Amino acid sequence: MTAATRTRRRTRFACMECGSVAPKWVGRCDGCGQWNTIVEEPEPAVAPPALVRPVTPAAPITDVSALDALPVPTGLGELDRVLGGGVVPGSVTLLGGEPGVGKSTLLLQVLAGTAAADRPVLYVTAEESAQQVRRRAERLGALRPDIFLAAETDLEAIVAHVDAVRPALVVVDSVQTIADPALGSAPGSVGQVRQCAHRLVGLAKERGVAVLLVGHVTKDGTLAGPRVLEHVVDTVLSFEGDRHHTLRLLRAVKHRYGSTQELGLLAMGGAGLEAVADPSEMFLADRRPGVAGSVVVPVLDGHRPIVVEVQALLAQGGGMPRRSVTGVDQGRVGLLLAVIDRRMGLPVMGLDTFAMAVGGAKVTEPGADLALGLAIISSVTGQAVPADVVACGEVGLGGELRSVGGIERRLAEAARLGFRRAVVPRSTPALDVGLEVLRVPTLDAAVAVLGLTG
Ligand code: TYD
Ligand code: MG
Repeated sequence: MTAATRTRRRTRFACMECGSVAPKWVGRCDGCGQWNTIVEEPEPAVAPPALVRPVTPAAPITDVSALDALPVPTGLGELDRVLGGGVVPGSVTLLGGEPGVGKSTLLLQVLAGTAAADRPVLYVTAEESAQQVRRRAERLGALRPDIFLAAETDLEAIVAHVDAVRPALVVVDSVQTIADPALGSAPGSVGQVRQCAHRLVGLAKERGVAVLLVGHVTKDGTLAGPRVLEHVVDTVLSFEGDRHHTLRLLRAVKHRYGSTQELGLLAMGGAGLEAVADPSEMFLADRRPGVAGSVVVPVLDGHRPIVVEVQALLAQGGGMPRRSVTGVDQGRVGLLLAVIDRRMGLPVMGLDTFAMAVGGAKVTEPGADLALGLAIISSVTGQAVPADVVACGEVGLGGELRSVGGIERRLAEAARLGFRRAVVPRSTPALDVGLEVLRVPTLDAAVAVLGLTG
């Protein structure tokens, strides 16, 4: 045996998306069906078999204390809303989001909100230098001695830092840039991410420390790294927003301690992230009533009703009709154009169509169909939908309107903002929400009740 073969480490082929292992390189993963996700990585070292012995013996469920899992408020109300009160000691939370959305900012603010002299907190930066993090903390007004900072990428060194500082909360920024050198593979590889996540979960449970992990997302919005990462953590948060707007949306994709129905709304400002006190008001702030092609819709994101404006502009272009959408669903706009063209006889299919949700809002639920349809029709006929009207309902292929969930909450929010009439599907139950409810069976009937044909 030559020296070369003796020292050569065995490698294997693993999928970057789902973590499944293939015996040889293949173009398409057998596990998840994705293309070009298989990478070669060193075979993980086989750990010696652990001694099997229960750390805590099984006990009757009635004897188990419910108290040790009480959430601790983070000082950021919108995050606490999403988490159902705050961060649970001993839990591991993964915060996923695109670069620049504000993950590091959010977590530094969380640390500032939870740090206390008797229970310090720890920020492990594996991406930026300690100086960069300090400068951000200065900007956020989060420069305090009970926030400890370590620039570290080595997993075992991070564990040692936790043991030295004994923090109540640890932020690791990010899980893709730390590594266990014993594995031999690069940070961010399947084996590393899995190993780091497992180790940090173990650490959280043993020490009762809450761990917050930053995770990067790929272009299509899924978390980079094996799916196993999402399975081992207790909570997965998704932080979204677009670069050109200050609005940021925070929601739980998975939450072992509560609901995944809450939505947190934050705005990125000069001094970090702030709660958006009245999102509907923000979305409607620059609205110009009486303009054709603009309709207001109360949408529901999780449990939270938000009133937003959708707009459409249709124009005769040259050649192939163009369709451009922002913040609304392209497929649904296509469907609405077809329904309006075929069922209502308005020739819209050949026109260039632009449709959007205003203010960086994302309106992809079917409840926005009616408003989008009315915006399209209003743009074509040149007649504005009255300024005191909201519209909400799903449009079927026959042009019929179908009711959507949470209509009472939606309309109550619209009434709170001063809207006086709501166009809704005929099947909507009787409601006492403080505005006039106009029930109509079809898109056609909605147009008639608003007097849009002309
Ligand atoms: P950052 O938290 O670094 O994002 P991530 O960790 O998700 O990559 O923040 C990114 C952006 O936020 C950056 O472009 C600057 C901006 N920002 C503000 O607008 N105000 C602030 O107070 C801070 C700290 C950042
Ligand atoms: Mg960052």
